[in-house]
Amino acid sequence: MKTWAQLFSEHPEVPLELFHWWLSDVLDHSLVNLPLQERPDEKAEQAFQQAAHRLAQGEPVQYVCGRAPFRDLDLKVDKRVLIPRPETEQLVQIALDRFIRPGHRVLDVGSGSGCIALSIKKTLPGCQVEGRDISQDAIDLARENAKALNLDVPFKQAHLLSDEPFRSWEIIISNLPYIGEKEKADLPSNVLEFEPHLALFSGPDGTDLILELLRQAENVLAPGGTLLLETGESQGTVWRQAAADQGWGIEGIKDLADRERFWIFQKEA
Ligand SMILES: C[S@@+](CC[C@H](N)C(=O)[O-])C[C@H]1O[C@@H](n2cnc3c(N)ncnc32)[C@H](O)[C@@H]1O
Repeated sequence: MKTWAQLFSEHPEVPLELFHWWLSDVLDHSLVNLPLQERPDEKAEQAFQQAAHRLAQGEPVQYVCGRAPFRDLDLKVDKRVLIPRPETEQLVQIALDRFIRPGHRVLDVGSGSGCIALSIKKTLPGCQVEGRDISQDAIDLARENAKALNLDVPFKQAHLLSDEPFRSWEIIISNLPYIGEKEKADLPSNVLEFEPHLALFSGPDGTDLILELLRQAENVLAPGGTLLLETGESQGTVWRQAAADQGWGIEGIKDLADRERFWIFQKEA
């Protein structure tokens, strides 16, 4: 039987930090006192070898661990959903700081792991928060996360806002797919090979789904309501034109890397 130290040394291609995270998360070892001279039992060694293999293939560590942090939440993630990104944490922060008030009805469209909806509900339990996604796999996982976190957020399968009643939501928040099919070749291979394409691509320029969402929101958003979006960085002209066409107010907000990625659409009261 090998020690953990020997096992580590057999996998120089995988960064040690990833193993640290994996060990602490999956095997519940302390990050500070890795038991390098201990000999793992057969089951632990097998699990370690499998994780090493997956990491070496370029699979994101969040999928290998099966967990991802989002604001103050620890979420289950796997290949059924996009791994939540730090930019989306910023979108939620903007929504909470400036737009969502206790008691608001808030809909998260394209909810994936449920990160946006669950985070809002955790911060403002008095809001009615729900999530929609076209992927039943994603809905299943978001429901698991809601249950594990004991948060009352219903998730339902739907295409965008197609099932929503007239003027039913005061806030609609969404991180829909916004990558163009044309940009496929530029994506890092760990994204392209492992994350669900349904969560990434939206027509040739990446704008199809969001433009449809905007059109549907005309009926579904309450008067004076707000629609908040995360989008690609060079799509601002399209969103400004769409807002002008619908007679809505629009504001672009930059992310931490100075890219205009967040959009606030304001419907007239
Ligand atoms: C970029 S991911 C975002 C997931 C999650 N909100 C997040 O921020 O991590 C986009 C999500 O939109 C969903 N989606 C794609 N097309 C959709 C549609 N027509 N209607 C509803 N959801 C859709 C995908 O299944 C995916 O879960």
